[in-house]
Amino acid sequence: MTDIKLRSQNWFGKKGKDGFIYRAWMRNQGIPTFEFKGKPVIGICNTWSELTPCNGHFRELAMSVKRGILEAGGFPVEFPVMSLGETLIKPTAMLYRNLVSMDVEESIRANPVDGVVLLCGCDKTTPALVMGACSVDIPTIVVSGGAMLTGKFQGRNIGTSDVWRFTDSVRSGIMSEEELNLAESGMCRSNGHCAVMGTASSMACMVEALGLTLPENAAIPAADASRKVIAQLSGIRIVEMVRENLKLSDILTRKAFENAIKVNAAIGGSTNFVIHLLAIAGRIGVELDISDFDPLSAKVPLLANLQPSGEYFMEDLYYAGGLPAVMKEMIGDLHGDIITANGRTVRENVKTAKILNEQVIAKLDKPFKKNSGVVILKGNICPEGAVLKPNAASERLMQHKGKAVVFENIEDYKARIDDENLDVDENSVLVLKNVGPKGYPGMPEVGNMGLPKKLLAKGITDMVRISDGRMSGTGFGTVVLHVSPEAAAGGNLSLVQSGDMIELDIPNRSLNMLVSNEELALRRKNKAKDESEIKRGYAYLYTHHVEQAHLGADFDFLRGGSGSVVSRESH
Ligand code: FES
Repeated sequence: MTDIKLRSQNWFGKKGKDGFIYRAWMRNQGIPTFEFKGKPVIGICNTWSELTPCNGHFRELAMSVKRGILEAGGFPVEFPVMSLGETLIKPTAMLYRNLVSMDVEESIRANPVDGVVLLCGCDKTTPALVMGACSVDIPTIVVSGGAMLTGKFQGRNIGTSDVWRFTDSVRSGIMSEEELNLAESGMCRSNGHCAVMGTASSMACMVEALGLTLPENAAIPAADASRKVIAQLSGIRIVEMVRENLKLSDILTRKAFENAIKVNAAIGGSTNFVIHLLAIAGRIGVELDISDFDPLSAKVPLLANLQPSGEYFMEDLYYAGGLPAVMKEMIGDLHGDIITANGRTVRENVKTAKILNEQVIAKLDKPFKKNSGVVILKGNICPEGAVLKPNAASERLMQHKGKAVVFENIEDYKARIDDENLDVDENSVLVLKNVGPKGYPGMPEVGNMGLPKKLLAKGITDMVRISDGRMSGTGFGTVVLHVSPEAAAGGNLSLVQSGDMIELDIPNRSLNMLVSNEELALRRKNKAKDESEIKRGYAYLYTHHVEQAHLGADFDFLRGGSGSVVSRESH
């Protein structure tokens, strides 16, 4: 244990007028003076909000964290930051991820805290909080909220991925509105985030694989009493981390990022993982490129049988041994010697883990699929890269040539997709432009656009779809996402026209429009200039500073960090 100087003492340890003010105004909450004397002050960064239903139980969870902090001799201070509820927030939660990260960064630096517990749940709350904390870099531990219990409908298990299936079934007349209402009532049975391996679960696994949580954090259901136990233990641990001065930058090494990429592949994690991990790496100063993802994950087999790629739910993953059981199985391919939040190595953390249900977690020699992970495509549509999840794609479309049916923006898509006269068949390639970071703005999850009604009625369930947007981690299909540069930034995607032949070759990692360079140059020359411009507010800041998807869609001025030192004081 190191005898370190607590940064909180720059406030509470002061004499004279300043110390008087810092301490006296805390006492109005009924806090005795001894609480400020030499105790690690731990911030609990809470994304609780009734408008973020997935994080609706976080005030209770914070109580458990506080118990742990007090027990270990620390002093807890809970503070709110902007919360992002994926289901309610418009136009898209991703628009505000960077804003939340700024809120988190400035809240931590500006206040007398020695360590932080990040309470994360719904999709963007995890990357936003980790990004912000990385730019300050004090001892930090993550506590996830946990997934909700598996949904039930007419005697079977359902989860968020079924929302797309049900709504397509209603559009094609297979399912009635009454049945849809019944499914709606059975979908969300408890507190917690989406129960499939969507983005929230992928983010919970990401922080555990990075070493930012206690082992088992990712899979414990929100409704399980163990969720409160791990919150309390995390409260105890953060106090020790402050005493050991174990900072985020000590844990988040290049090796930790490589582990996270491999684990995300083994669990069939979300495509959104790519964009968020790149942004986190940018904040902590680890070199990570979009081209790293493919080679690191290409040979990783699929070890978790979870929706949307498989059959089961997060609850089942927990009962089957949780993420430590997955990581133990693949430990030979992971960096086992790196330190994690509990002060132990990855190898030590997974040593006693066991696979308890091989239907849910596979042994390495009997994987659910030989290859998993995300694929990074390059070509004249996406010179800087595009992302595809092969596990969510159809085998017959892995190498495909088809005519483009182009939608200039999401409104154009909505207006024409169900038009009986739309020139489209099952071999067509649906192309959606202007849903990238700048174009929408905010890069919404519309990439897995619904198929034309007339094709659904024919029983078609998948087509190649290409866009500069994202897809919900709960979505599926042969969907090319995050095309970079995006159409609104002048990328070649903006030049694709209906009728162009598109060639997707997933085994060879390529995506091209079969149009000559001369023709593309001509189209670029004749392209009408987009005069629309956002003039004020946060959206102005966003569109002027957001980076492209292949860099993580962070703001250009937020890369790196400013540390924890407050250089000027007004008191
Ligand atoms: Fe919050 Fe899915 S809506 S995790």
